[in-house]
Amino acid sequence: MHSYSCCCRSGIYTLLLSLSRSPATGARCLAAAAVVLFLLIVASFFSISSTPSGVAGNTSTRTSTSRPAMSMAFEPEFPLYCTAHNVTRSCPFGYPTTHDPDPRLPNATCPDYFRWIHEDLRPWSGTGISRDVLGRARSTANFRLVIIDGLAYLETYQKSFQTRDVFTLWGILQLLRRYPGRVPDLELMFDCVDWPVVQSRLYNGPNAVSPPPLFRYCGDDATLDVVFPDWSFWGWPEVNIKPWESLLKELKEGNEKMKWMDREPYAYWKGNPEVAATRQDLMKCNVSNQQDWSARVYGQDWTRESREGYKQSDLANQCIHRYKIYIEGSAWSVSEKYILACNSVTLLVKPRYYDFFTRGLMPVHHYWPVKEDDKCKSIKFAVYWGNNHKQKAQAIGNAASKFIQEELKMDLVYDYMFHLLNEYAKLLRFKPEVPKDAIKLCPETMACQAKGKERKFMEESLVKRPANSYPCELPSPFDTASLYALRRRKANSIRQVEMWEGRYWEAQKS
Ligand SMILES: *[C@@H]1O[C@H](CO)[C@@H](O)[C@H](O)[C@H]1NC(C)=O
Ligand SMILES: *[C@@H]1O[C@H](CO)[C@@H](O)[C@H](O)[C@H]1NC(C)=O
Ligand SMILES: *[C@@H]1O[C@H](CO)[C@@H](O)[C@H](O)[C@H]1NC(C)=O
Ligand SMILES: *[C@@H]1O[C@H](CO)[C@@H](O)[C@H](O)[C@H]1NC(C)=O
Repeated sequence: MHSYSCCCRSGIYTLLLSLSRSPATGARCLAAAAVVLFLLIVASFFSISSTPSGVAGNTSTRTSTSRPAMSMAFEPEFPLYCTAHNVTRSCPFGYPTTHDPDPRLPNATCPDYFRWIHEDLRPWSGTGISRDVLGRARSTANFRLVIIDGLAYLETYQKSFQTRDVFTLWGILQLLRRYPGRVPDLELMFDCVDWPVVQSRLYNGPNAVSPPPLFRYCGDDATLDVVFPDWSFWGWPEVNIKPWESLLKELKEGNEKMKWMDREPYAYWKGNPEVAATRQDLMKCNVSNQQDWSARVYGQDWTRESREGYKQSDLANQCIHRYKIYIEGSAWSVSEKYILACNSVTLLVKPRYYDFFTRGLMPVHHYWPVKEDDKCKSIKFAVYWGNNHKQKAQAIGNAASKFIQEELKMDLVYDYMFHLLNEYAKLLRFKPEVPKDAIKLCPETMACQAKGKERKFMEESLVKRPANSYPCELPSPFDTASLYALRRRKANSIRQVEMWEGRYWEAQKS
């Protein structure tokens, strides 16, 4: 095979790269590749019934016998291709453009929280989204993302805080690699700032216009912003938070280090109290000489942590308390998934905001609700209850980490993005177009020039090949009755806890 070296260095990928450069070499390589592929297919058939025959799919390691021929022949990897494209900053050809998993494999059903996709897009379900309506989302957007024929284009309006926009776009590019050719053409506006801004009250009533469709990381009950997974799933280099896939594994291993019963019987919180009044209020619940609310809270000094190599902020080593407090910052906080993943009971201070998955959490099943306006007493009671109902408390901790490990694994984050974008694209009443000032985006244009942690996290979270299955199947929308019942169920369990809490504090008086 050495005579086909033009395309055998890293297989078909390099072949197509060379195709894009020189048609003459390309044609020669194409023929060569066809032969290689054919041989691989033939060889893999034989190697099923015999010992590995020495023909492996990695065309440069054809004499290797250490790995099964089948999977290598059909699952080439697609690394970043930085050497040439570092210079030109162009996007290489060669990544598959279609996604064809085995159609006989059964499809999974998506988790229930995917049903909120229908709710988030409901404002446009009757009217659709015209170019004019989309344009109105521009005033606060950081960027417009366009996808056409599976390729991404970006028009930047305003750089975001830190690398939020970078890692959000990186995530979308990985989705395109996971499901090549499956994400439909679309244009969307994305706002990377914390707080939702599309006030629903402005779009009510018989003569109301359509709200602008604006993607962001969280929403609340008074707004119509469309929620999308936040950047931290691909990494947050500024605070050393790794991509979710590897972090999730570490958290799982971390959990096994210390059993719930052996953990500190207190409620733990660590974070930056400066960003919100409610967090400063939480600081008052810290243990002191006068009072013990069963809370141990710590301020996070990111400057010091950064200097000391983040030794104190390793998330996987923070699961050593039976109870962990989640409290919103200036809006939702990306820390929620890390806290829920701990096998500890999450004491969730009544939140105002939701992100894409938190609407799937049930009070008392996945977390313990804590009052916003009487935090210390509420926390003290939660810890008292848990230490006196150890089985039930552990069950809450386990349900939460199971939810995070199983329903929020990276595959499903991609599936959520896929379905959201797919349903969104169905609403567009215009043909997506590449804006004049847009740049073409691909992993190479983003990663090859990135440095340090940014580069490391990108390499770590790179999707290396298309998925070998279809996206999970999107559950149907809630009907009005079931949505109402769900809200009632949540409200009732919270009220139940408040009643127990009230009784406990009554009893303390006497
Ligand atoms: C292919 O073989 C080369 C050389 O042995 C090796 O460096 C590379 O990691 C292999 N690639 C894959 C996808 O196994
Ligand atoms: C990529 O470009 C940077 C600067 O633009 C340069 O320092 C680096 O050596 C280049 N890397 C390669 C592999 O060409
Ligand atoms: C799985 O879903 C895909 C669409 O995403 C569909 O084409 C395929 O037929 C489904 N497979 C099965 C076994 O239902
Ligand atoms: C809370 O109390 C602990 C134990 O006394 C202390 O180490 C910690 O610094 C306190 N936290 C804050 C934010 O003051």
